Amino acid sequence: MTQEELFKKLIAHCKEYGFIFPSSEIYDGLGAVYDYGQNGVELKNNIKRYWWDSMVKLNDNIVGIDAAIFMHPRVWEASGHVGAFNDPLIDNRDSKKRYRADVLVEDWMAKQEEKIAKEVEKARKRFKENFNEEQYLATSPRVLEIKAKMDAIHARFTAALNDNNLEELKQIILDCEIVCPISGTRNWTDVRQFNLMFSTQMGSTADGANTVYLRPETAQGIFVNYLNVQKTGRMKLPFGIAQIGKAFRNEIVARQFIFRMREFEQMEMQFFVQPGTEMEWWSKWKETRMAWHRALGFGDDNYRFHDHDKLAHYANAATDVEFNFPFGFKEVEGIHSRTDFDLGRHQEFSGKKIQYFDPERGESYVPYVVETSIGVDRMFLQIMSAAYTEEKLENGEERVVLRIPAALAPTKVAVMPLVKKDGLPEVARQIIDELKYDYNIAYDEKDSIGKRYRRQDAIGTPFCVTVDHQTLEDGTVTVRHRDTMLQERIKIEALRAMVDKEVSFRELFKKIKA
Ligand code: GAP
Repeated sequence: MTQEELFKKLIAHCKEYGFIFPSSEIYDGLGAVYDYGQNGVELKNNIKRYWWDSMVKLNDNIVGIDAAIFMHPRVWEASGHVGAFNDPLIDNRDSKKRYRADVLVEDWMAKQEEKIAKEVEKARKRFKENFNEEQYLATSPRVLEIKAKMDAIHARFTAALNDNNLEELKQIILDCEIVCPISGTRNWTDVRQFNLMFSTQMGSTADGANTVYLRPETAQGIFVNYLNVQKTGRMKLPFGIAQIGKAFRNEIVARQFIFRMREFEQMEMQFFVQPGTEMEWWSKWKETRMAWHRALGFGDDNYRFHDHDKLAHYANAATDVEFNFPFGFKEVEGIHSRTDFDLGRHQEFSGKKIQYFDPERGESYVPYVVETSIGVDRMFLQIMSAAYTEEKLENGEERVVLRIPAALAPTKVAVMPLVKKDGLPEVARQIIDELKYDYNIAYDEKDSIGKRYRRQDAIGTPFCVTVDHQTLEDGTVTVRHRDTMLQERIKIEALRAMVDKEVSFRELFKKIKA
């Protein structure tokens, strides 16, 4: 199965099993907007809890807030979003399709990397056990040729982005001979800038109406509340403010399912530090956030850092945590050193003093900020991509299983009476009554046990508990484990401890803090 086929299957699976539906589907959907279904919302809530607790519970110097989506319009002037929150876009005249110019070039570079990887594979086959990859990469004329071209384009691309040089960006697209994937032609328009913020009117009459924006990031809600939280919480530097909430961007190129949406959710934490210490904190948060991802057990090699070529208008250092999605390594989270840009600008635009009196230094200053910013939806896609597995079983049957980490699984336990009679459903209900205050539990009595197991595998339920006639005699049940499919008999009273051990966030948190 190719990665493309896998991705298509994943999207179909998300719909078939109540994880994600296209928005307003009966009206044919709305571009790049999605709804989360009955299983999706549970997984999403668990992701948010994993993040929230890892920030607010595990760190006594991080607190949370929940700011409004609408903010004073001046906020977005101060933050630079009105002037500079743009994407460079380019149209193909033949297909009439619109693309992000920077994404076209980035995709071209990813293709060159694939070419190099193919050369390496060919050489590995040719030279077998004598193959030395490092030496090959350093000496192969073909690889060196591709690399030299890539490096030259990369240097021009970075300069063009930093200088906002749209003509050069178009020239790079032409020089790389990038074609439109639909029309196959190079009939490109000029590159133009496009502001990504959605706006609407606040107020009852058009005359008195104010243009307000749907926030494109949650971070500004934290910055404008910095003083409120610092004062009321008597917070001392360094300290952080965390928030989870919706953000909106009028993305030009909305593709790859929930990877790039127009309405999405962010989990952001702004960490306020003494000026001059920001690089140390930036490195620390890079490490902590990578540990948070890796604790899920999807394989360390599936993550990497990618430093930004073009720094956002507010940053002096920035990196992305990238995950190996079915469509390649892509950004899941950004870790940015935002200097005192935001607080400084809000101080300037609002006329209010936004400073911290540092008792150690005996002076007041605008704190610096290190931000960690992750999309809930991208995290969701990461988990689904890593968890989706098709397996051929020993008996020749096939199963689709979502190997979602137990702590994040939408349903923790499915309780099933073997038959719908002889008092077995009643015992199953009693077990559910015992567990339902702590965990999401499902009851299923329809179809054969095998079919019921398959249904639970497909939504990632870690445990299936079967009540049978032996249960009535000795108070034991069969527990079937999702990943190994192994079955064991345990006492009903031992169920809670077993489930608790497996589904608790504790083990994940220990890995982050280690
Ligand atoms: N406050 C900084 C900020 O917003 P960003 O790199 O633009 O930085 C942070 O966004 C994260 O938000 C990304 O790493 C991604 O996970 C998520 N994100 C951004 N745009 C998105 C979109 N259109 N759809 C889904 N998630 C998005």
